[in-house]
Amino acid sequence: MTTILATHDLCKSYGTRPAVDHLEFEVSQGEIFGFLGPNGAGKTTTIRMALGLIRPTSGWVEVLGRDVARHRSEVLPRVGALIEAPALYAYMSGRANLQAFASVLGGVAPSRLDEVLELVDLAPRQGDRVGTYSMGMKQRLGVAVALLNDPELLILDEPANGLDPAGIVEMRDLLRRLVDQGKTVFVSSHVLAEVQQICDRVAIIHRGRLVTVAPVAELLSGRGEFEVGMEDPAAAMALLRNTTWGADARLHRGGLITRSPSGRGRDLVRFLAERGFWPDRVTERQQNLEEIFLHLTGGADGGVR
Ligand SMILES: Nc1ncnc2c1ncn2[C@@H]1O[C@H](COP(=O)(O)OP(=O)(O)OP(=O)(O)O)[C@@H](O)[C@H]1O
Ligand SMILES: [Mg+2]
Repeated sequence: MTTILATHDLCKSYGTRPAVDHLEFEVSQGEIFGFLGPNGAGKTTTIRMALGLIRPTSGWVEVLGRDVARHRSEVLPRVGALIEAPALYAYMSGRANLQAFASVLGGVAPSRLDEVLELVDLAPRQGDRVGTYSMGMKQRLGVAVALLNDPELLILDEPANGLDPAGIVEMRDLLRRLVDQGKTVFVSSHVLAEVQQICDRVAIIHRGRLVTVAPVAELLSGRGEFEVGMEDPAAAMALLRNTTWGADARLHRGGLITRSPSGRGRDLVRFLAERGFWPDRVTERQQNLEEIFLHLTGGADGGVR
């Protein structure tokens, strides 16, 4: 797999305080990679370094095979970026906004405006003033601006910020279309539910440090645990805790959470039934990112929604 973006022992300090602390992760071609962390975790600082806007204190960011700090003018024309809210002109139409950005960039064919408007699903509203656009439409127009130079890598800082659930679904569909065209997408967020819906893999950072990198599906899979609804779960729990595989059994919402002797639900049912405990229901447990995040970062701590 081709690496499109990688941080190498990346550090950035403001004064003596580290904002980004020995960060290491890699983004492969064709994935939607989520960069997740609470407010102040160091996401925007990392993105600014990835775009050569600020210099690392130490370490480096590899973008499209190059050290971006040393090869900015070579690398940046192949990257599209949206940092925080896009700076759009409210009194101009969507198309006129794109036109304005295109003329600053230079070398953008007029047909490219039609292409990006189509891609972000704004073609029917391109003549309307941006002031009349919804939040989701403005964010998508911001993405359209980032797409003008037909970049291989798209870096979006909190593109789903302020979007309602329908807006998030539209953003997800848009990013999927881009990946289908062979692009790579790097998106930051401090909202777990967004990343869960949008991304293939995610890096979680906290206080400038990497907590974990994993496929979203892997993070969410329940680590082989089952939720069991039954009468007298406390008695069953006492029994399970005496087994090697059930040592973590615990009470939960009037039922029980436990592993199974084999990893399969039916063997858990048999084990319990043979001892006189008949489960009313057994379901494989799905964790959500919120739980995982709190577990990984060691508890509720500032700004996690
Ligand atoms: N120019 C600066 N001068 C001093 N400190 C800064 C500067 N920029 C960022 N910081 C600090 O670096 C840390 C990381 O900030 P950063 O903006 O990268 O976080 P973030 O993950 O993007 O947060 P948010 O979710 O709020 O956007 C914070 O403690 C912030 O106060
Ligand atoms: Mg930020």
